[in-house]
Amino acid sequence: MKKISIAIDGPAAAGKSTIAKMVAKKLNYTYIDTGAMYRCVAYATLKQGLAFEDEKAVSDLLKNMQIEMKPEGTIYLNGEDVTSSIRQNEVSMGASIVSKYQAVREFLVEKQREMAQGGGVILDGRDIGTVVLKDAELKIYQIASIECRALRRHKENLERGMASDLEAIKKEIAMRDEQDMNRQISPLKKADDAIEIDTSEMSLEEVVSRVMELVESKI
Ligand code: C5P
Repeated sequence: MKKISIAIDGPAAAGKSTIAKMVAKKLNYTYIDTGAMYRCVAYATLKQGLAFEDEKAVSDLLKNMQIEMKPEGTIYLNGEDVTSSIRQNEVSMGASIVSKYQAVREFLVEKQREMAQGGGVILDGRDIGTVVLKDAELKIYQIASIECRALRRHKENLERGMASDLEAIKKEIAMRDEQDMNRQISPLKKADDAIEIDTSEMSLEEVVSRVMELVESKI
């Protein structure tokens, strides 16, 4: 069977990574979480005590940045396991700021393209279908209402035993979307040839089978 490349883009907390992971497992494809890479840059910025707004300092950090993503999902930044620490709120907001910088985008897009070489991959992010893999055989634009996205994230946090504030989550998601959609370089938008899936009223299983139907039409 042909091994294709699949791009899943969409706003924050739309469940892209959950779906991407499930589909990757079914197809035996490699899943690449590109958001985690921007989160690593934000985490390194925080760790060095630098300001997210300091473009020069953030860009300088890239020279010594080694991001390793293991197949089972562990993420290492310069040898440190950052899998959970990059999920903090402060890092999410920071990722949305540092992802505006050209040097950061160039550095990570190159890595993502290298990792995606040969197909049999599923990448999720904001610019996969429009920039990173413009030739991906299947492009999905996954959306859901803000209420729905915030509530899902809130439940997820509670299940993980984390403190969680629904209204704060809603604000954070809205702020990130606004930044991600309005930045100059590679803003979040639906690629012309992407298929939109609104998951607000769908179960996980329904979304996965819709994506699998689309995959099957391409292979
Ligand atoms: O997907 P996730 O929410 O983990 O991404 C964190 C942030 O990284 C996003 O809000 C966005 O600013 C940035 N990002 C991006 N391009 C991608 C993936 C993520 O700009 N392909």
